[in-house]
Amino acid sequence: MSIFIGQHQISDPVLLAPMSGITDAPFRRMVKRFGVGLAFAEMVAGRHVLSGQDRTNRMLRHDGSGVQAIQIAGRDPAIMADAARFVVDQGADIVDINMGCPAKQVTGGYAGSALMRDLDQARRIIAAVAGASRVPVTLKMRTGWDDASRNAPELARIAEDLGVQMITVHGRTRCQFYKGRADWRFISDVKQAVRIPVVANGDITTVADAQTCLEQSGADGVMIGRGAQGRPWFPAQVIAALQGQAFTLPTIPEIGELLLAHYRDLIDSGDTWPMVRIARKHLGWYAAHLDDPRAFRTEVMTAEDPEVVLDAIDRHFSVGTDLSVSQARAA
Ligand SMILES: Cc1cc2nc3c(=O)[nH]c(=O)nc-3n(C[C@H](O)[C@H](O)[C@H](O)COP(=O)(O)O)c2cc1C
Repeated sequence: MSIFIGQHQISDPVLLAPMSGITDAPFRRMVKRFGVGLAFAEMVAGRHVLSGQDRTNRMLRHDGSGVQAIQIAGRDPAIMADAARFVVDQGADIVDINMGCPAKQVTGGYAGSALMRDLDQARRIIAAVAGASRVPVTLKMRTGWDDASRNAPELARIAEDLGVQMITVHGRTRCQFYKGRADWRFISDVKQAVRIPVVANGDITTVADAQTCLEQSGADGVMIGRGAQGRPWFPAQVIAALQGQAFTLPTIPEIGELLLAHYRDLIDSGDTWPMVRIARKHLGWYAAHLDDPRAFRTEVMTAEDPEVVLDAIDRHFSVGTDLSVSQARAA
């Protein structure tokens, strides 16, 4: 199983989903330690790309290894074209266009999934970005705006005609937001509509989910979002399973070591206070592996000093001890 996105061969098409506030460079580095086909950075608004703001610069930061896939969102074709040129100059190897975000601040601005209701505007944006970008352009979408208008196959065909090299479909409509279940079977309609690779996304949190999703969608790969939160090894676990190989889950002390590294990387990647706050959600997710997550969360969730948090990680995850693999709660 291998796909090409332009010149980039992705030998294991198990991809990390773009997630705002989550798939920053430190998180992508954690996922890449284990292995992942491709890791998408969090969405950046096209109009912010050229702003030079610290937050935006942090979001656009290179994670240090492999193919850099940057996602941009917006409504204005000229701004999106400028944004694409800029991110490519900054080192992006792939530019992804967001036509899936359901958030009102995004769709209210008629970007993200709102573009699935306005295919003419979607066409103009795709053409502008593809024309401006000297690297492959990909597109992420939902199945449609609502149940009555599941037009992902049509948008995928438009995108393919304009030179887009891969489509990812989150198997929900915009109006579902995150409710209900992702419809993996519907994604097969998109797969049949185009020749470029189609990646299926939504609700993959176990190896069995990934296998069922591939069967039902006929997709060329899967993309994992929330399933990797607090489990940066999960994409690699899926890759191993698809190759018929065993995968050893990390022990609690090993998870503690990972979290120490992840936490330090996060704190070092920006000003201390915002990073302490941003890191808290990750602490909460990793805590789920502990027998007593609440005791750990109580200690770290209000701590403002990173040293206090590092000390708590060390103690609660018994870092430095040698618990056996069977004691890992990471399944
Ligand atoms: C907190 C959060 C942030 C997200 N941010 C983005 C984003 O920036 N761009 C995007 O295309 N999708 C974004 N998504 C959607 C995910 O990429 C993915 O399509 C969705 O979560 C379904 O996959 P999952 O069930 O594997 O999480 C986000 C999802 C979550 C939960």
